[in-house]
Amino acid sequence: MNPLYLRWRLILVAVLCLTCGLSAVAADESTLTKEQIKHFLLTAKVVGSREAKKGITHTMRLTLSDGTVTHDASFQAIDEHKMEKQIGMGTELNFVDSYKYNIAAYALAELLGMDDMLPVYVERKWEGATGSLSWWLPVKMDEVERHKQKLTAPDPEAWNNQMYKIRVFDQLVADTDVNLTNVLIGEDWKIWRIDFGRAFRVNKELKDPTKELVRCDRQLLEKLKALDANAVTERTNHYLTKDEVKAVMVRRDKIVARFQKMIAEKGENEVLY
Ligand SMILES: Nc1ncnc2c1ncn2[C@@H]1O[C@H](COP(=O)(O)OP(=O)(O)OP(=O)(O)O)[C@@H](O)[C@H]1O
Ligand SMILES: [Mg+2]
Repeated sequence: MNPLYLRWRLILVAVLCLTCGLSAVAADESTLTKEQIKHFLLTAKVVGSREAKKGITHTMRLTLSDGTVTHDASFQAIDEHKMEKQIGMGTELNFVDSYKYNIAAYALAELLGMDDMLPVYVERKWEGATGSLSWWLPVKMDEVERHKQKLTAPDPEAWNNQMYKIRVFDQLVADTDVNLTNVLIGEDWKIWRIDFGRAFRVNKELKDPTKELVRCDRQLLEKLKALDANAVTERTNHYLTKDEVKAVMVRRDKIVARFQKMIAEKGENEVLY
């Protein structure tokens, strides 16, 4: 073979390998930023769908692809409003179960620097219905499974520190459906919190704060103190009503006041971490 021709062929192969390598990196979903994930969820084509294995609102597990990245997402389209709803033994007045609260919860988590504990949620239309779409998480099991198998995290401190944050968030968003299938466990015992369809009640009281608010992440407390009603209104526009935002802010005040009281009584190191 002509040595010059061979040289050109080698250069061509090298260039091809480099290009393939680069596109492989670009296609690696672990390198996507939150904004890229949002864009993917908003624009990628739905190439598959199936019923979710768990839950009662008939969420769908969709497969999306933009030609480079292929990833699953959970679609929830419920938007139920009722004057009264029978829940277990009781009745809830002005009951709402809405996909909109998933999007509001994610926006609030972003404002609080807690968005690494929730999947990215966006609003998307699919097969004529509007709903929330969340990035499918790398989950090993949920809290139901962990309890069933009687497993405990190898690093209890790291586990508890994640749980304290989730408990603070649950108080803030006033979720009435804190069931254990909504707490998912990923690699290295990372905890994820999903499904806020029955959150954002307009009650201004915290639910069992003595039991639920035990310790608080330092940065989270600072973010809570700095949380601005206008920013919450702006970021949750179309997803939360005025009264729902107001209730978030009142509960925020109570959460902060409670931790400040505990700090005054026990000292900062007993309360914050
Ligand atoms: N982003 C996600 N990543 C991984 N798994 C998910 C995700 N979203 C939902 N799931 C799985 O699908 C199940 C049902 O989803 P979700 O909790 O949103 O709906 P639901 O029907 O409202 O549930 P519930 O019975 O708690 O009201 C979850 O319990 C979880 O197992
Ligand atoms: Mg659920």
